[in-house]
Amino acid sequence: MKCYVNAKRETGTINPMIYGHFVEHFHRQIYGGIYDPSSRFADGDGFRTDVLDAMRNIKVPILRWPGGCFVSSYNWKKAVGDKRTPFFDKSWRVEDPNSFGTDEYIKLCRKIGCEPYICTNAGTGTAEEMSDWVEYCNLKTEGEYAKWRIENGYPEPHNVKFWSIGNENWGQHEIGAKDTHEWGRLVEESAKMMLHVTPDLELSAAALPNPDWNFNLLKMAGKRLKWISIHSYFDLMPNDYNPKNYAEAIIQTNNVGNAIRSVRGTLMMFGLEKRIKIAYDEWNLRGWHHPYCHKNLEQGVDINKVLSAREKNDINSTYTTADSVFAACFLNECIRNCDIVGMANFSPVVNTTGPIFTHENGIVKRSTYYVFEVMTKHMGDRAIDVYEEDSIIESVNNQQVNMIDIAAAKRSNDSAITISAVNKHDSEEIKLELEIDHDSVERKSVTVYTVNGESKDSYNDIDNEQVSISSCEYKINGTDISISLAPHSVNIIVIK
Ligand code: AHR
Repeated sequence: MKCYVNAKRETGTINPMIYGHFVEHFHRQIYGGIYDPSSRFADGDGFRTDVLDAMRNIKVPILRWPGGCFVSSYNWKKAVGDKRTPFFDKSWRVEDPNSFGTDEYIKLCRKIGCEPYICTNAGTGTAEEMSDWVEYCNLKTEGEYAKWRIENGYPEPHNVKFWSIGNENWGQHEIGAKDTHEWGRLVEESAKMMLHVTPDLELSAAALPNPDWNFNLLKMAGKRLKWISIHSYFDLMPNDYNPKNYAEAIIQTNNVGNAIRSVRGTLMMFGLEKRIKIAYDEWNLRGWHHPYCHKNLEQGVDINKVLSAREKNDINSTYTTADSVFAACFLNECIRNCDIVGMANFSPVVNTTGPIFTHENGIVKRSTYYVFEVMTKHMGDRAIDVYEEDSIIESVNNQQVNMIDIAAAKRSNDSAITISAVNKHDSEEIKLELEIDHDSVERKSVTVYTVNGESKDSYNDIDNEQVSISSCEYKINGTDISISLAPHSVNIIVIK
């Protein structure tokens, strides 16, 4: 398969925040995941150092918190200071001790070295509560909330720049669901008050790949937004646990660009595509499994049945090379659309369906973890033009799927050309013939970093790593490079 890469034609700057993450107060993501004072890995603040190390290693650039559905009845004021008020979380129907709140979250972000990104409660919350939160985090000393932060032991502002107004308030599954007009008004008033506290906030608001919903939001509040937030899970199993197999999963790679195209169109209709960027701030192949809660709230279900069902998210054999192949295709789509996608947050980062799984004696790096590792370590920051001379289209369960997914970028720091090449085929190797239209820099070597396992169904579990990163060096002369891409593999090709 022949592919032309034009290193002289840059198509955009890739914001590193496309490799972002999300963590919610759900199941074992916070308590028992990142924050576990009883763990033998816990540091003095109760954070698991093995998890912190793993998050640093994939250079988490931004971390969205505290939800997700959780946030839509969350009262941040009960989770700061010496007196924490336990809160019955009506979204996920458990008591949250509120021992992990804003100040612990900021401490977490500082330890990881990532930007905080707070999602506010636009369900039961008010514009005042959201702007009070901004006061608490960002004002130096003015007003009761900055003074409260200082009293709590944080004399300097937390300086939280990224804020999202609401989470999925468009949906009946969400506490405090709104109609499109209510939503536009609430976002406008909330954004107004938040910006009156900190005028240079970068605000997002919950949106949909649905022009009707976004129309009123942008008409009423677009002038105050820098981001528009959308979410996608491509293998939804909230109620019945039936993860898609490899074939079904790679069919979903056909859909990774749908929401981006729709939102791009709406933004262009308003002439906002240069000012408002997409924050794809929840995405994953795998939706979270949480029956009896989200969409079909069945009455009278025993709470133990509700909670035990969530353990199925912990089945590590679910997360195979289907997940790594899909994740790379999604991130490639973000690179191809880097002019309008400025942030993407894998949902979530720890436990549930995330790349890091915690257990008593350590962590498991699931297949998706290694995609983030190779892309954050090796992919360039300036997207360049790629032309695939011939696609390899195959029928998968009667759906036409292009077996190759490619994105390319140049690295500013050393001018290396980097190519993310995914072979989706479940069994066949694909020979990739690259013709590089070089710029003035002479390039002599190629290194390929590959995420793969023996079979398409390979996965990682406790003391059983089947998916990992391997690397291979090639010498080059001239401009043609030929590389074999193994089946079900993610490959980052670095040409220096
Ligand atoms: O399944 C988890 C939920 O997915 C998040 O809490 C919400 O934002 C989305 O609906």
